[in-house]
Amino acid sequence: MSTKITILWVIAVVLVTAIAILISLPFFMHKPAELEEYKNKIPMQKTEVGERIKLPEPGYTGNTSVEAALSKRRSIRDYSGENLTLDEVSQLLWAAQGITAPWGGRTAPSAGALYPLELYVVVGDVEGIDKGVYKYSQEEHELEKVKEDDIRAELADAAVGQECVSDAAIDIVFTAVYERTTRKYGERGIRYVHIEAGHAAQNVYLQAVSLDIGTVVIGAFMDDRVKELVNAGEQENPLYIMPVERKR
Ligand SMILES: Cc1cc2nc3c(=O)[nH]c(=O)nc-3n(C[C@H](O)[C@H](O)[C@H](O)COP(=O)(O)O)c2cc1C
Repeated sequence: MSTKITILWVIAVVLVTAIAILISLPFFMHKPAELEEYKNKIPMQKTEVGERIKLPEPGYTGNTSVEAALSKRRSIRDYSGENLTLDEVSQLLWAAQGITAPWGGRTAPSAGALYPLELYVVVGDVEGIDKGVYKYSQEEHELEKVKEDDIRAELADAAVGQECVSDAAIDIVFTAVYERTTRKYGERGIRYVHIEAGHAAQNVYLQAVSLDIGTVVIGAFMDDRVKELVNAGEQENPLYIMPVERKR
């Protein structure tokens, strides 16, 4: 009889403990709002205009062959809403215009090695850096902040309302200083500069495939407005916008 009572007591204690654990479980779990708050607390490097950010060293080997990247390359305009990492941003910029030779040779060819292209990154959702517009310095593989605030929506308006521009985690804006090339090649230099933008953009496309990220080249936009939005210099002319983010 007393053994039966002991067993019943043990069962009761186990049951009460299990119910107590089940009831208290939600208090130990993160609620969606708390998760959002946590996401906003991901270490963020607050940068002022004029400050520079050293980019992580890019990778020089990958698991995707050139042939696989070429077969899979596609223009992607639907994105997942996830952040990009600073490593990914570093890799994409290096692919576009990174320095690969001691004399300054880059990933993309350039007529007369005169390098007319400049790159801006409109940052929306990147782990580790705050929103704003940054200019890429290939010499130091650094970003320099040139503007505060998230301008993706305004950039999308300037690109005749193309939503992929405001949806993407970043937009890479390609500008070019024609004079760097026309000084040597005259009018023909304009053609060379446009061809070079194509080389650099294709590098970004292929790198994006290798990182399993989506991108597209955008050529439809209002030049003056894009120039103003990224604080481009007087001599710079915008040629391409490339929204980049993980695919949906
Ligand atoms: C010079 C140029 C300008 C482009 N402009 C736009 C654009 O403004 N918006 C857009 O969604 N796609 C644009 N595209 C991407 C093309 O629509 C895309 O490359 C084409 O549909 C073929 O698809 P694929 O890149 O997936 O092979 C442009 C492509 C090039 C080469």
